[in-house]
Amino acid sequence: MKVLLVGGGGREHALAWRLRQDDPRTEIIAAPGNPGIAALATCLPIAATDVDALVTVARQHRVDWTLVGPEAPLAAGIADRFRAERMPIFGPTRAAAMLETSKAFTKSLMFDAGVPTARAVTCETLYEVERAIAEIGAPLVVKASGLAAGKGVIVCETAKEGLRAATAMLSENVFGDAGNTVLIEEFMEGEELSMFFLTDGEFSYALPPAQDHKRLLDGDRGPNTGGMGAYSPVALAPPQSDLFETVFSRVVRPTLEAMRARRTPFTGLLYAGLMLTDDGPKVVEFNCRFGDPETQVVLPALQAGLPISEWMAKVARGESLRADSNLSWQGAALTTVLAASGYPEKPRTGDRIEIPPTPDDVLVFHAGTKRDAAGSLVTAGGRVLAVTGLGDSVEQARDRSQEFAGAIRFDGKQYRSDIGWRELARRSEVAKGAGAS
Ligand code: AMP
Ligand code: GLY
Repeated sequence: MKVLLVGGGGREHALAWRLRQDDPRTEIIAAPGNPGIAALATCLPIAATDVDALVTVARQHRVDWTLVGPEAPLAAGIADRFRAERMPIFGPTRAAAMLETSKAFTKSLMFDAGVPTARAVTCETLYEVERAIAEIGAPLVVKASGLAAGKGVIVCETAKEGLRAATAMLSENVFGDAGNTVLIEEFMEGEELSMFFLTDGEFSYALPPAQDHKRLLDGDRGPNTGGMGAYSPVALAPPQSDLFETVFSRVVRPTLEAMRARRTPFTGLLYAGLMLTDDGPKVVEFNCRFGDPETQVVLPALQAGLPISEWMAKVARGESLRADSNLSWQGAALTTVLAASGYPEKPRTGDRIEIPPTPDDVLVFHAGTKRDAAGSLVTAGGRVLAVTGLGDSVEQARDRSQEFAGAIRFDGKQYRSDIGWRELARRSEVAKGAGAS
């Protein structure tokens, strides 16, 4: 099997790793890849959004199918182009990717389909914003409708803050065109959970759930980032729980059905960001692709031997998965992201990275790294590496991830020491409860 892997971050390194775990004979061509992916694939210096060049490469190398990591090429219509050329590709069309690229579209689709989500009003003028804020009340959430690199969501304690955030988006264009339409949304209380559905447009396989850590600093403080760490599985969603059935029946099936009814079926990976509220799970957002850094824990936690690559290839070819299923996992995985000095505002590049020999129960995924002219590994982006520890429990995975995160050296290295804290707090609560009874 020959696969073209589009992207060059930690998520794509984890995808390459799993492709090779599933079948060591798989040949991977990555565009552009990175120095970590280069150990598993042939990397070509082609940008992930250069759709014309990617079509040419896929044809020249006679790849069997193409796997798209990031959202930008999907938003640019890479899947439409490949399908038009009859080349199998894993990832939604531009119209189906709107589940991620337009929050206004998605909110209206969810309302129509009866999918549980926060109440929201879509606004294009400040006059509409003022009315919406009066209707929704504080606290509230202001969201830029379009893609804003994970930054377009502002939680506001007061109506005044809400108005200020919406003004920055609508009048001061802080997120460019992404903020030409904004949503004023009700604030939801609860714990967040990310769930992932590999889907053919009708049937889906649920991967192990995960929890991300978006803030830069311990204790969930500091600025928002692309994600400083994640772990999987999450005890809030045990394998046999009703939660899976609830999310399949109230979220995933109605959303996919609504997309089919619009003649824009969604195929690929549907990432559902959920809030577990007292009224049950509600959708915070959808993404149209694998999560980063969630993939760096979800794929290692997924039961070995499950041929996820074959299923992705099937979906890429337009074949049916035939039934919904809840995939099993084994043990746990926890990843700690090592970020560069200055991240997230202004990451510094060019710092020399030293990685000691990696133990068996640790996987180091490259995100923002490159080789300099002398061939040394140096930092080349905000999130530099994702250090995944594997174990029988989240605690064990955490210890392994943290220990090796500490052992990797580069100047200005930043990382959180408390990834997985919610899960560990939950476990100690359970242990205390058990002790008391
Ligand atoms: P999003 O980009 O839509 O996932 O939003 C980013 C983050 O903002 C989420 O992960 C939540 O922590 C928070 N958030 C978004 N919408 C809401 C909401 N309606 N209520 C509470 N928190 C929210
Ligand atoms: N970690 C959040 C995302 O991939 O969107």
